[in-house]
Amino acid sequence: MTWREYHESTAHSVESLRRVPHVLDWVNMPDPFRHYESVQVLDLPADPLSPDIPALDVLQGFSGTTAVRDGPTFLSQLLFYSASISASKLVPSTGYRYALRVNPSSGNLHPTEFHFLTRGLKEWPNGLYHYRPSSHMAEQRASGDLEMKLAGCSAPIVFVLTSIVWREAWKYRDRAYRYCLHDMGHAWQALALTARAIGCESFAVGHFPDDEVAQLCRLPEDEWPMLIVELRGGSIPVREPDACETIWYGGHANQLSKERTAYTRIDGIHGATKLSKSACRGISPAEPAPTGSGEITLPPAASSTRAFGEVARMRRSALDFVGGTQSISFTQLSAVLAAAIQPQLADFAATRFIQLYLYVHRVYGLEPGLYRLWPAPAELERIKSGDQRVAAAGLSLGQDLAGNACVAFSIIGDLDRAARAHGDRGYRYVHFEAGAIGHRLYLAAEAFGLGATGIGAFYDEEVNRYLSLTPGLGRVVYHFAIGYPVHDFRLGA
Ligand SMILES: Cc1cc2nc3c(=O)[nH]c(=O)nc-3n(C[C@H](O)[C@H](O)[C@H](O)COP(=O)(O)O)c2cc1C
Repeated sequence: MTWREYHESTAHSVESLRRVPHVLDWVNMPDPFRHYESVQVLDLPADPLSPDIPALDVLQGFSGTTAVRDGPTFLSQLLFYSASISASKLVPSTGYRYALRVNPSSGNLHPTEFHFLTRGLKEWPNGLYHYRPSSHMAEQRASGDLEMKLAGCSAPIVFVLTSIVWREAWKYRDRAYRYCLHDMGHAWQALALTARAIGCESFAVGHFPDDEVAQLCRLPEDEWPMLIVELRGGSIPVREPDACETIWYGGHANQLSKERTAYTRIDGIHGATKLSKSACRGISPAEPAPTGSGEITLPPAASSTRAFGEVARMRRSALDFVGGTQSISFTQLSAVLAAAIQPQLADFAATRFIQLYLYVHRVYGLEPGLYRLWPAPAELERIKSGDQRVAAAGLSLGQDLAGNACVAFSIIGDLDRAARAHGDRGYRYVHFEAGAIGHRLYLAAEAFGLGATGIGAFYDEEVNRYLSLTPGLGRVVYHFAIGYPVHDFRLGA
């Protein structure tokens, strides 16, 4: 299977949705929490300090600081604002409450797991840990020095983000691999932006030998490594590193459901996008992104002083948006776009593969229409004039929220250019970038008190046709919407 075969065979169309209706097997729903049982579980101190730098500043590339001076509190702060549970929702018919997290996830199924290696943190033993969001604790899977140089990482904290694709496949079947990649992009940005908010920098590595990294972390066969994120910086409380022997505890990974259905297309695309050790000698540069300009210059960005900590924990996906007449301002949209297009720090991100198309419904100072964003020199090119609400909702699989929002997006990925540079592996990178941009859109919207929702369900070919995308211009990989959220009465703390 090639990326193209996978992508085309998992496209939504009216016919494909009618052809294979899917009934969810609730009894077999995968557990959203992985535990490595029978290992020591280390406390991460409760109620870590909230990073108070404005969220928009972090999104624009400015760093905050932290008063934290020890390893456990530092890790607690980092994970509380990037991966922990932040709210719950009530199912009114059953009274059951389920958890929502700082990072969003398609269907709230959370395929991403956070593993991390530490070396030389103050008051924290060197080792390999798995983050347990259900109790905000760290499962110690090994102590001592592990070989972290495998992927060129020698930082004091190195995250290995993995994906349990079955969690998404249970609901979304073969299309689920796409959502896992998006979710990974969101989780990566949640981590990278929190790291920056507390004064350290991160760099993500996507180009690594999959099997070696899986072996290094002794992952069970249902967990696949997808991104390595190294963290460095003066704010990390470090001590003199000491050499210590590695002791493995491993732990037994809990079984997530009674049965697992195999999805051959997912196995196919995962196999096609894997890299062997010999293929990882270096990452080739991609051709530069296309350049262009538009007739509308973005105005100076609006400001917001809302603190990063509050924004990260308050972020939610809107179920729907209040339609009507209430608009956002063009300067707010400008700030949101500026946040979205900041450079991303990763080995695969030297060139951009993503372009944003905007369905502008209600932005004060900007006519309704369809626009393409040119990041440099920050201009909008008008593609179509007039009301786009029915088109945006219809293309998003008939989801009203894309029409009731103030602005909706088609996130377009240049999959062919990515594949020319990175082979099938490029398919992952385009989706990571799309998810990362989605995460920035969520936080920028929240900074203005607006709501946002990532939209993974859309009619692929209809979108490509509506935007007149010829193969060289890319294909739709993600949708997004921002506006005034309707109140969700099921939400609780
Ligand atoms: C990749 C991705 C795709 C999503 N697709 C949709 C969608 O098509 N429709 C929708 O209403 N919500 C969608 N969501 C929002 C999720 O349902 C939401 O993140 C999840 O329920 C958790 O809620 P929270 O974001 O408030 O934490 C998507 C989220 C992500 C990250």
